[in-house]
Amino acid sequence: MERLQKYLAHAGIGSRRKCEELIIQGKVTVNDEVVTLGTKIDPAQDIVKINGKVITKKEAKIYLMLNKPAGYVTTAKDNYGRFTVLDLVKDVKARIYPVGRLDYETEGLLLLTNDGQLAYRLTHPKYEITKVYQALVKGVPKETELNKLREGIILEDGLTAPAGVQALTKLKDQALIEISIHEGRNRQVRRMFEAIGHPVLKLKRIKMGPLSIDIPVGEYRFLTEKEIQALKKHIKLNN
Ligand code: URA
Repeated sequence: MERLQKYLAHAGIGSRRKCEELIIQGKVTVNDEVVTLGTKIDPAQDIVKINGKVITKKEAKIYLMLNKPAGYVTTAKDNYGRFTVLDLVKDVKARIYPVGRLDYETEGLLLLTNDGQLAYRLTHPKYEITKVYQALVKGVPKETELNKLREGIILEDGLTAPAGVQALTKLKDQALIEISIHEGRNRQVRRMFEAIGHPVLKLKRIKMGPLSIDIPVGEYRFLTEKEIQALKKHIKLNN
């Protein structure tokens, strides 16, 4: 239970003093009944109104980066009972959700937040957020094959935008390739490599816009204030 004037003040209505005055003036209702000073409410259940307008408390915004392991789904719930990325952040109480999606087998940088506007911009193709992946692929692609990805390649859902592609390590029958794309089609990186005959064996996302992953697989951390500001600046979000 929470004191009504405190709830109103946290909702951005004004100082506690001002909120007390509104209550005394009979302008505040809880579940459609005018209340007096001293009233406590259950923010999860009670409907608070001022002059008939519902007041909702501003939720504190939370931003986490997770280094997603393979074998976790990027949804809040899974119909098949598989582990979800939210199983890895159990001690965060706020209702957060993943920004975009990584495949079940993909590792790496995943953002989790309750900031809907930020999540929208980071995933909307219009904002062209660059995502960088490291792909371990079967065989060693020739430069002519990698050039196809650099120029754009036709997949079943159309031509891809040009990608940044760099071979990092070439082994006897595998290669580690870094690829950056700004589209977010389903299984896009896997399908791009499949299309040049070098299927992905392992995939990891290492960057998203201005953020780079710097924590071990399976761990998460809160973004720093500097990272949050850099992210917002990147997507032209000013708040
Ligand atoms: N591209 C893929 O193929 N899979 C991912 O998880 C992310 C990008």
